[in-house]
Amino acid sequence: MASERTLSIIKPDATERNLTGQIIARLEGAGLRVIAQKRVWWKKKDAKKFYDVHKDQPFYKDLVAFMTSGPIVVQVLEGEDAIAKNREVMGATSPVDAAPGTIRKDFGVNIERNSAHGSDSPETAKKEIAFLFSKKEIVG
Ligand code: RTP
Ligand code: MG
Repeated sequence: MASERTLSIIKPDATERNLTGQIIARLEGAGLRVIAQKRVWWKKKDAKKFYDVHKDQPFYKDLVAFMTSGPIVVQVLEGEDAIAKNREVMGATSPVDAAPGTIRKDFGVNIERNSAHGSDSPETAKKEIAFLFSKKEIVG
C-alpha cells in the first residue's frame, strides 16, 4: 500500500479535557505524520456541511451541536495505509466497542463524544481535506 493522506479531527470533548497532545502522540506513534494542523471553532454551517452525509441520521442534529460546542483540532495525516491505520488507532465508533489501547477506548466518553474523527475512504479523505485546508497549508 502506497503512502496515503487522511483527515483527522480531535473533537471538542478531547480539546476540553486537554488531550490534544496525547492523541497526537498516539497518531505519531502509529507512524502517521501530521503534515497540516490547525485549531478551529466551527460555526453551525461548517459542521452541517462536513457531516452532510449523515443528514438523515437520527444523531445528526446532536452531532452538529456537539461539534460546534468547543474548539477542534483538524489535521492532515500522511503515511502508509493512513486511512485504515488512523481508524485502527481510533478504534470503533463507540468507546464500549473499541479495542483496548485505542484512542476511543482510552479517551472517549460515549458514542457521540468519542474524541476523534478519521476519513473512511480515499474519496472522503480527498473531499474532507479540501474542505478544511488549502494546498499551501499542507506541507508534506
Ligand atoms: P467519524 O466519522 O467521526 O470518524 O466516526 P465513525 O466513522 O466511526 O462514525 P460515523 O458513523 O461516521 O458517525 C459520525 C459521528 O457521529 C457520532 N455518532 N453518534 N448517537 C449516535 O448513535 C451516534 N452515532 C454516531 C459520533 O461522534 C461519530 O463519530
Ligand atoms: Mg465516519
